[in-house]
Amino acid sequence: MDLGDPDLYLDPGRFARWRRYAADDAVLWSDAGTSPGGFWSVFSLAGCRAVLAPKAAFTSEYGMMIGFDRDHPDKAGGGMLVVADGPRHTRLRSVIMPFLSRAMAESLEDTVRQEVRQLVADAVSAGGLDVAASLGPVIPASVVCRLLGVPATDRDMLIELTSHAFGGADSSFDRMPPDAAHSEMILYLADLVAERRRSPGDDLISALAGDPRFDLREVLLNCDNVLVGGNETTRHAIAGCFHALATAAGTLDRLRTDPDLVGPLVEEVIRWTSPAMHVLRVATEDVELPGQRVASGEAVVAWLPAANRDPRHFAAADEFRPGRPANHLGFGYGPHHCLGAALARLELRALLLALAEFVDSVSVVGEPVPLRSNLVHGYRHLQVRLEPV
Ligand code: HEM
Repeated sequence: MDLGDPDLYLDPGRFARWRRYAADDAVLWSDAGTSPGGFWSVFSLAGCRAVLAPKAAFTSEYGMMIGFDRDHPDKAGGGMLVVADGPRHTRLRSVIMPFLSRAMAESLEDTVRQEVRQLVADAVSAGGLDVAASLGPVIPASVVCRLLGVPATDRDMLIELTSHAFGGADSSFDRMPPDAAHSEMILYLADLVAERRRSPGDDLISALAGDPRFDLREVLLNCDNVLVGGNETTRHAIAGCFHALATAAGTLDRLRTDPDLVGPLVEEVIRWTSPAMHVLRVATEDVELPGQRVASGEAVVAWLPAANRDPRHFAAADEFRPGRPANHLGFGYGPHHCLGAALARLELRALLLALAEFVDSVSVVGEPVPLRSNLVHGYRHLQVRLEPV
């Protein structure tokens, strides 16, 4: 079986398969297909950690997703944070880190809470909405625009562009296909970089553009990394938060009674939704995985939703149960652990608190439509009904 086949992840049976592979500590080979050289897969929490750990003999510089081709490595390798290793990775991470830090999340908290409150209040007035298409993409795009320093007057336009660029192939985007929106976004960012070089501000674009160690290509690659990393995952965690609440009636009542539940709820939303479906690494030397020798140069894929359903760590793993130990791998593990985790948590916290304020109960209308993807574990459509308090 080629585990890179995106059709596999439209099937609700994926959860049982992930649980079984994780429980068995399976290490499986997928022949050449979605990745030209084939790849190994690991599923258990321990197996994924072993591949992603700081000292593990694996690199991200050939690329970090299925499609990896030894003969044609990712052109961004070494220049973009998520596909850079060693000193190049450390240098990029230290420049970007202050803009995605916990302190930055705290400084944005009031603004994000206000924005999300308004979005939720509007959604409740409308009775419900497709959270995958309308509310999910807007919250993270708005936060990322602030970090990049997109002028307030351009923000709606860039939010529109990013939600088209990362919206997937959906008929509602016929007006502007994703590739066209992405190109337009990069052109817009290139203009902004030129402007910030002339007149810097206190934003991420100015920090990257003003650093003589980075050329224009590297500045744009890393703006793109933050845009994609911030939008493409969080929007599905947000949509999935509604889905989770619909499966666990009474959760919003518990949150109203005990606002401290919000932290454990956020962690469980990340675990339960696991929007980053896989990360890939390439072995830099021969490596022993449980029952399997991986040769230097071979690729290994860590399936994060499988690790997050490993039955040895998460009992009744398909159930949404806040309060579990926070040892999930939703944000990855090791040197590339998600740099935007504090911001993602802030966005989900703001959403849950706004839902507790305005919504009595959430229900899903019709069948959720999953994304056809082996990379992003998310929703194409998720129509929900919201009962006001
Ligand atoms: C890295 C997941 C939100 C920016 C990662 C990685 C994962 C991940 C699994 C590791 C990639 C690897 O090991 O190759 C998620 C999830 C999110 C989320 C599930 C939301 C629920 C965000 C946000 C931002 C962001 C909001 C920025 C605004 C990044 C960046 C990296 C990263 C820059 C690269 C870090 C590095 O390579 O050192 N994310 N992410 N992410 N994420 Fe996130």
